[in-house]
Amino acid sequence: MVNGQKIPEKMTAVAISTPGGPLVLKPEKRDVPTPGAGEILIRVHAAGVNRPDVMQRKGAYPAPPGASDLPGLEVAGEVAALGEGATRWRIGDQVCALTPGGGYAEYVKVHASNALPLPAGFTYTEAAAVPETYFTVWHNVFERGALKAGETVLIHGGASGIGTTAVQLASALGSYVIATAGSAEKCEACLKLGADRAVNYREEDFVKAVKEATDGRGANVILDMVGGDYIGRNYDAAAVEGRIVQIATQTGAVASADFSKLMVKRLVHTGSTLRPRTVEFKGAVAAALETQVWPLLATRRVAPVMDMIFPLKEAWRAHERMEEGDNIGKIVLDVG
Ligand SMILES: NC(=O)c1ccc[n+]([C@@H]2O[C@H](COP(=O)([O-])OP(=O)(O)OC[C@H]3O[C@@H](n4cnc5c(N)ncnc54)[C@H](OP(=O)(O)O)[C@@H]3O)[C@@H](O)[C@H]2O)c1
Repeated sequence: MVNGQKIPEKMTAVAISTPGGPLVLKPEKRDVPTPGAGEILIRVHAAGVNRPDVMQRKGAYPAPPGASDLPGLEVAGEVAALGEGATRWRIGDQVCALTPGGGYAEYVKVHASNALPLPAGFTYTEAAAVPETYFTVWHNVFERGALKAGETVLIHGGASGIGTTAVQLASALGSYVIATAGSAEKCEACLKLGADRAVNYREEDFVKAVKEATDGRGANVILDMVGGDYIGRNYDAAAVEGRIVQIATQTGAVASADFSKLMVKRLVHTGSTLRPRTVEFKGAVAAALETQVWPLLATRRVAPVMDMIFPLKEAWRAHERMEEGDNIGKIVLDVG
């Protein structure tokens, strides 16, 4: 029972009927999942839409073994059932969670440690926009990249879901933030979110801009989702002992670069992908977020930037919006 309602056997979900364009996303009836040991079942009220969902729809990013074939990496809703040993939560608790897939549905099961309480004062649609980008940014910028207060961070794709989160968090935690984006409007959005400098990469060379903004020192941490020729240019834009964290390679995973710069500047070039990591790893990131970032969400010092909300059954429109590339911030599905 959740909210006095019995859990049904079947639910509405949006599935990838075959790899292809947005219209392959089709509503269908599925069995409601049963939570296993350590898991909880969430009655989903809202689900976040992410670029990896688009890649999965196209057939380029298959679900990891054991995960639902349904798209959807983050949700917000109420705890509807508890698996054995999932003692942290009670039925009816309001949560948001990172899921291994399956978020585009009325119910999803997740490991209890991968859920967090709904940030104070947040709606379900706002909370569903939090997990994927906050887990990704926290791990890559602050753990892997070890960004510290007073350092300079260069965030590529500053107006994206990931970028808007990274700009806000880095600014709130005391860094000098430089963001790149592809239009004046997106640059303006980055500045409003706390970036100290925004670079329209279609009009300006980001390496030159970073050097100018840092008196020639360069950026201590670079978050890159672009790849291609950005790889070599990031080496130019990085400071001595800089950390470059690769989270995507949108313009190419194969590149040539001058690796002598890596040695001369003693750079660290690393990267990661979140989805295939273990539930234990994700649980550790969730615990760090709850202590370090949830208080900032509660005061709205940081908050997800909401682009547009679509009904679950119109998930195809949400994907169309993401592929058009005009979104500033997060696209979310209202699951009802
Ligand atoms: N590794 C991980 O764990 C992980 C987890 C989640 C997401 N990701 C990746 O992170 C990226 C962002 O995800 P999202 O959900 O936030 O997607 P999104 O909102 O669609 O963002 C994609 C962004 O890439 C930017 N971009 C493309 N080419 C660029 C360029 N040459 N210079 C600067 N920016 C450029 C676009 O900005 P402009 O329109 O301004 O060009 C756009 O804002 C995606 O590639 C996604 O796959 C990785």
